Amino acid sequence: MESLQPKTAKESLTLLSDIVMPGETNPLNSLFGGELLARMDRACSIAARRHSRSIVVTASVNHVAFVKPIPVGSVVTLEAKVTRTFNTSLEVFVDVWNEERKTGNKIKVSEGIYTFVAVDETGKPIVVPEIIPETDLEKERFEGALRRKQLSLVLSQRMHPQEANELKKLFD
Ligand SMILES: CC(C)(COP(=O)(O)OP(=O)(O)OC[C@H]1O[C@@H](n2cnc3c(N)ncnc32)[C@H](O)[C@@H]1OP(=O)(O)O)[C@@H](O)C(=O)NCCC(=O)NCCS
Repeated sequence: MESLQPKTAKESLTLLSDIVMPGETNPLNSLFGGELLARMDRACSIAARRHSRSIVVTASVNHVAFVKPIPVGSVVTLEAKVTRTFNTSLEVFVDVWNEERKTGNKIKVSEGIYTFVAVDETGKPIVVPEIIPETDLEKERFEGALRRKQLSLVLSQRMHPQEANELKKLFD
């Protein structure tokens, strides 16, 4: 059985670079949203698998922001990292960057927050190691994760709003 020793967030870092092809675009010749969601799901699932060293399934897509269009021909890099784990679930952030052809500068174009659950071969949830956030951004995302989990559980009717104490603090 895989060790439950805590791991740093950066150990799960997953970078996926790919080009936007014409068949993946909308009528404005920008990357189709569903195609980007699929790429995000793939990058996040690899990060979750690296952390848990087990099979992972997507339980929820908690937030996605399409901030800027991504034109055909763009080189897009997805950067996914586990931000926090609970018992059997893991929150994974993905930042999406578009690389300028001439300068190589990376512009942030999208972001997403996914929840995965680690499961055994029969699909039964299994416990995952804790995460050790190191950078300021990793710590900030770690801090907000319980609030986001409660929001996701409330929206999916798995938690009564009255029980979402961390979430309620936002409105106090
Ligand atoms: C995700 C899945 C394994 C959860 O199974 P379950 O029997 O409901 O298990 P549990 O109730 O024990 O929940 C397991 C964990 O998932 C979390 N979870 C479930 N739904 C969630 C949601 N919408 N948002 C956040 N967390 C959620 C629970 O809070 C729990 O977390 P914890 O153990 O860290 O506290 C099950 O619903 C499933 O297999 N779904 C389909 C997954 C799939 O096919 N994904 C591909 C997308 S098409």
